[in-house]
Amino acid sequence: METTLIILKPDAVQRGLIGRIVSRFEDKGLQVVGMKLTQISQQLAATHYEAHKERPFYPGLVKFMTSSPVVVMAIRGNGAITIARNMMGATFGSKANPGTIRGDFGVSNSFNLIHGSDSPEAAERELKLFFAPGEVLNWPRHGDQWIYDVSGGKIE
Ligand code: RTP
Ligand code: MG
Repeated sequence: METTLIILKPDAVQRGLIGRIVSRFEDKGLQVVGMKLTQISQQLAATHYEAHKERPFYPGLVKFMTSSPVVVMAIRGNGAITIARNMMGATFGSKANPGTIRGDFGVSNSFNLIHGSDSPEAAERELKLFFAPGEVLNWPRHGDQWIYDVSGGKIE
């Protein structure tokens, strides 16, 4: 099982889209194992997006991400990182396909609603940035036997 970090960005929270976006992950069968409303500090935004430090959009990105509360989530499932990225859609709202979160809920290229870790290494790093030990819960989910086929000895 993989766990990925999802952030519902300030535009998603301000536009009242928290519930609808969280529902998409629940509907898919992914499990919420961590969730909180928080306002990201300058320091945390800088650390989280340090790979983009030299990019022209970086100052605006940090300003946006710290401007208003976000919802941070830890989402778990078999292949959760790639599944979540596919559900999010292309980075720019103007390019994201219908059926994806960015494609269905936005048109902006910078106000693009959601962040998702893009690799297992990024997920491990980012989950530690946003969740303290004990805040991501390993809880057995009622109904998991109808989400995954484990009859062959592995998760299908
Ligand atoms: P994210 O990290 O937020 O999940 O988004 P992503 O992987 O799809 O895109 P990434 O390349 O990592 O860019 C991070 C965020 O920076 C903003 N951005 N603006 N104006 C631009 O050219 C531009 N490029 C990226 C977006 O908010 C993007 O989500
Ligand atoms: Mg990224």
